[in-house]
Amino acid sequence: KMNASLGLVVVMLLILGRTHGNSVTQTEGQVTISEGTLLTINCTYSATTIAYPALFWYVQYPGEGLKLLLKAVTANDKVSNKGFEATYNKEATSFHLEKASVQESDSAVYYCALGDTVAETAEGAERKL
Ligand SMILES: *[C@@H]1O[C@H](CO)[C@@H](O)[C@H](O)[C@H]1NC(C)=O
Repeated sequence: KMNASLGLVVVMLLILGRTHGNSVTQTEGQVTISEGTLLTINCTYSATTIAYPALFWYVQYPGEGLKLLLKAVTANDKVSNKGFEATYNKEATSFHLEKASVQESDSAVYYCALGDTVAETAEGAERKL
């Protein structure tokens, strides 16, 4: 079930990406790690028509809706929330998600998203997904 919904969202992102020339690429498929170890999910983006891209990580816990986890609007922003952190690296065009010591309760689907700081808010990006 988790894989089916992930596939669906990935397809939607690719369609949006082609329409607007902007896209995100994140670590694909399932990542299995031991409790207490470091979690890294890579995300790189391409923003060809967005002057001021905003970057987001959303999380979807089993049986729940999407929740905003992290949001960065300025280059080199380092943001954190509930032990998760990510750095908006403009040179590497990346926004990798990290958590130092994962717990079983962190099992979820994680989505990297791209938005426009001028035209849209976090709400807008959420609606797009
Ligand atoms: C994730 O990003 C880091 C730093 O850019 C890189 O060293 C690593 O190889 C990447 N991992 C994957 C799975 O792409």
